[in-house]
Amino acid sequence: MRATISNSVLDATEFLNRGKLVAIPTETVYGLAANALNADAVVQIFETKNRPHFDPLIVHVASPEHVAALATDISAAAQMLMEKLWPGPLTIVLRKRESIPHIVTSGMDTVGVRMPDHLLTLELLRTLDFPLAAPSANPFGYISPTSAQHVDEQLGDCIPYILDGGECRIGVESTIIDCSQPIPTVLRLGGTSVEAIQELIGEVHVNALSTSSPKAPGMLHSHYAPRKPLVVGNIHELLHQHGQNVSILSFKDSFHNFRNIRLSETGDLHEAARNLFAAMRKLDADHHDIILAEFVPDYGLGRAINDRLKRASYKGSLINE
Ligand code: TXA
Ligand code: MG
Repeated sequence: MRATISNSVLDATEFLNRGKLVAIPTETVYGLAANALNADAVVQIFETKNRPHFDPLIVHVASPEHVAALATDISAAAQMLMEKLWPGPLTIVLRKRESIPHIVTSGMDTVGVRMPDHLLTLELLRTLDFPLAAPSANPFGYISPTSAQHVDEQLGDCIPYILDGGECRIGVESTIIDCSQPIPTVLRLGGTSVEAIQELIGEVHVNALSTSSPKAPGMLHSHYAPRKPLVVGNIHELLHQHGQNVSILSFKDSFHNFRNIRLSETGDLHEAARNLFAAMRKLDADHHDIILAEFVPDYGLGRAINDRLKRASYKGSLINE
């Protein structure tokens, strides 16, 4: 089987109604979707991604009104975030209802829900009479896909259909905020800035890079990682340490005598986020031994970019933790 790549929502609907997997575009990254209320369909997601069963999936909905059927105890803060920031790159963790199979939430009593901001996928969600469980459409631990081609390269042999919605506009995964606690806590930095959240609901906790027993396995140090080593720091210093057989992932400066990808020539954090994963993939595929990278300014989307760079650079170190 080789995946069909097309933009027909109707075809995607047919596969999903039959309990099959479909890769879907979102504004953040591509997802690998199945009927969230069908445990047999959801099992295939874990198998296809080689994903451990302790890692819960995000449930995607067509509008905030659909959340009441999936979750309870929806706080005023959660309600406000849904009203103001959906559709958009924000996943809200709430107490789950029985309607959601345990496999979706890895046995936890909470569920992450999100309304993605992509025309095709919103149309798809409105057509279906169930929500979609969807992790990022990459093998577990690898870089998330930001185009239909990325999905095809890695999972094209294992799934029947990729809904092609072009390149992802945001480029990093959704921010995850746990609203099942009295004080909302950000569990993963992502496409919605902490500043935008705090403007709406006041001070929140941020608990996004934890080592031991992470609440969201996406919080694991080693994640979103290329296969070859990536080190982050001052590129000039790193060049002294690592010699010549390197490629460089820089924010805006250029490094003429090297294989170099700049995330944004003008220093724009949105553009940098949009380019990040495709750049990592390209540098992972070339013949250099190691990728040298640098952090970007640590505010807004920059915090999510720096978080992904840290995780990409932790490869291997997890074994000793
Ligand atoms: O932007 C995104 O969020 C993309 C697109 C496809 O929507 N999805 C995505 O899914 O990044 P995934 O599975 O790659 O990452 C979801 C993260 C995982 O780290 C998982 O542990 C966490 O969300 N998660 C899901 N449900 C949770 C819950 N109930 N409590 C805490 N963390 C949860
Ligand atoms: Mg993922």
